[in-house]
Amino acid sequence: MHRVLIIGVGSIGERHLRCFGRTGRANLSLCEANADLRQRIAGQYGIVSAYSSLDEAMVHEHDGAVICTPSQLHVPMAVELARRGMHLLIEKPLSVSAEGVEELQTLAQAKGIVAMVGYVWRMHPALARMKQLIDAGRFGRPLQLVSVSGQHFPTYRPAYRDVYYRDRATGGGAIQDALTHNINTGEWLVGPIDRLVCDATHQLLEGVEVEDTVHLLTRQGGVLGSYTLNQYQAPPEWSFRIVCEAGTLLFDNYPVQLKWMTEPGGEWTCAPVAEVERDDLFVAQAARFLDVVEGKAMPPCSLVEGVQSLRVNLAALRSSESRQWEGVR
Ligand SMILES: NC(=O)c1ccc[n+]([C@@H]2O[C@H](COP(=O)([O-])OP(=O)(O)OC[C@H]3O[C@@H](n4cnc5c(N)ncnc54)[C@H](O)[C@@H]3O)[C@@H](O)[C@H]2O)c1
Repeated sequence: MHRVLIIGVGSIGERHLRCFGRTGRANLSLCEANADLRQRIAGQYGIVSAYSSLDEAMVHEHDGAVICTPSQLHVPMAVELARRGMHLLIEKPLSVSAEGVEELQTLAQAKGIVAMVGYVWRMHPALARMKQLIDAGRFGRPLQLVSVSGQHFPTYRPAYRDVYYRDRATGGGAIQDALTHNINTGEWLVGPIDRLVCDATHQLLEGVEVEDTVHLLTRQGGVLGSYTLNQYQAPPEWSFRIVCEAGTLLFDNYPVQLKWMTEPGGEWTCAPVAEVERDDLFVAQAARFLDVVEGKAMPPCSLVEGVQSLRVNLAALRSSESRQWEGVR
């Protein structure tokens, strides 16, 4: 059994607590600053060690931690825990700036710890199959990526006005909160984004001023990419179309489908896919984290890949202000 500390048991931290529990491979403790929430979640999940601060938690030994606090706290917390040699699963986005990131990378390497970033879509079996097909070269070289997405955020996150989402400085706005998933998945599928131009604005969400609508154009090596997202449409849509030299692949999440076409005006070939519950992805991610700690697997999203997607977020934010193409640096 691995001793795993969940830090921050708000929306996603509670999910991690439940999903690590479902692996049956972890002794869990939690750390939460909000006293009411701390007591409620500890009671609900039968957690004996529930700390009110990281300092308090550090009095005891832990093998690893899942950092589920707002994003501006991720890197300072990760640096502190890496110094103690703890393995880390850090929620996305890695941060809201480049500050401290190099120090974290150096420390993680020096201490030989596992450091993963929680871009959980990498655990989706149909997307993993899509990546396999692309990597195997079955459809030739990828040329174009089109990602279309949107969801009714007030339905899925009624508290959006009261949490980190309302401010870019705490990881808020559509780019850092939502589009970053598409960015990370797009980079996983066809390679890193080198440069981009981004148009983003606030269109509809009440009670906030951050952007809720984004259009992003990218260059990813030889691939031209386009990513669009809004946070108010009815369909919870999340799609990736990858056009390759000898075939077009399409992943869609609502309902889940993976299909491809190789002949102009031909038939789609549909891969068998299973509906996946959101918790399933988090249980798979938790199990993989423990596998990586045990030396049995590679991280689904390494720290290096998480840093690259952070750089893309920051370039997209810069471009949305400058209205210019920006290099990812
Ligand atoms: N992977 C995903 O699909 C996904 C989904 C939602 C959120 N997230 C990410 O997870 C992070 C948290 O998001 P959330 O929606 O759970 O936010 P949240 O506000 O619901 O929860 C954050 C929790 O951290 C606690 N906290 C803050 N500072 C603390 C400290 N110093 N010590 C202990 N606890 C502290 C807060 O009290 C709060 O309960 C963000 O980075 C967000 O981008 C990821």
